[in-house]
Amino acid sequence: MRLVLLGPPGAGKGTQAEKLARHYGVPHVATGDMLRDEVAKGTELGKRAAEYMHQGVLVPDELVREIVRNRLSQPECSRGFVLDGYPRNVKQARMLEEDLCRQGLTLNAVVFLSVPTEVLVSRSSGRVVCSACGANYNVVTRPPRESGKCDRCGGRLIHRQDDQEDTVRKRLEVYQQESLPVRDFYAARGLLRTVDGDQPVEEVFRSILEAVGGGDG
Ligand code: AP5
Repeated sequence: MRLVLLGPPGAGKGTQAEKLARHYGVPHVATGDMLRDEVAKGTELGKRAAEYMHQGVLVPDELVREIVRNRLSQPECSRGFVLDGYPRNVKQARMLEEDLCRQGLTLNAVVFLSVPTEVLVSRSSGRVVCSACGANYNVVTRPPRESGKCDRCGGRLIHRQDDQEDTVRKRLEVYQQESLPVRDFYAARGLLRTVDGDQPVEEVFRSILEAVGGGDG
């Protein structure tokens, strides 16, 4: 299964991608997580990416293309992947198409998670992530069993630096201008499935599985 998840910041791409990856037995490839990992390690790539990420704007296309291309060419991705956070503009969508085509591959489906803006802002401001394993929680909608502590590994839960309200609003603006057209790109190829992301996590998951069997593109 080669699946792309699209949607605005806070739509639940990461939450659903993790579940879908487990369901299909393929890796969850998240550009945001890979970039944050580079930033945390202090690599050259991480230093360059951090400047953009802290402002809530997109990291340059070629930089992201490189990390995605490397990851997708690993043997673990040979059975497929769930891609979360890429492509983020039409140029990246064309790059992905080109890179997959070189390997004789195409996408099976592209799922767009539709969520109203006011819900997005409150989800992002309530999000906490584990500083050790990256697990994702929400202090309002998906709280951990013990406050500040990861259910999975006991790690410390922290707020993402780009989840402050002004940065979230900037990310939403960038999304409207640059990422929304990616939906039309995939609709034109008959790959797009739109799912209501404003439902409980398990309902969204069920809707995605159903949608991947059908299509609205
Ligand atoms: P990235 O990490 O990809 O952030 P994003 O796309 O803005 O998405 P988020 O991670 O904020 O949200 P999500 O949709 O994954 O939602 P989540 O599941 O966490 O990118 C960060 C930055 O990296 C970008 O700004 C950019 O600078 C850079 N970058 C990344 N990719 C790039 C690219 N391709 N090109 C250039 N730059 C790039 O859920 C959010 C919260 O809601 C959580 O707390 C969760 O628990 C909760 N939640 C989820 N689902 C539900 C539900 N159904 N009901 C209630 N709560 C829910």
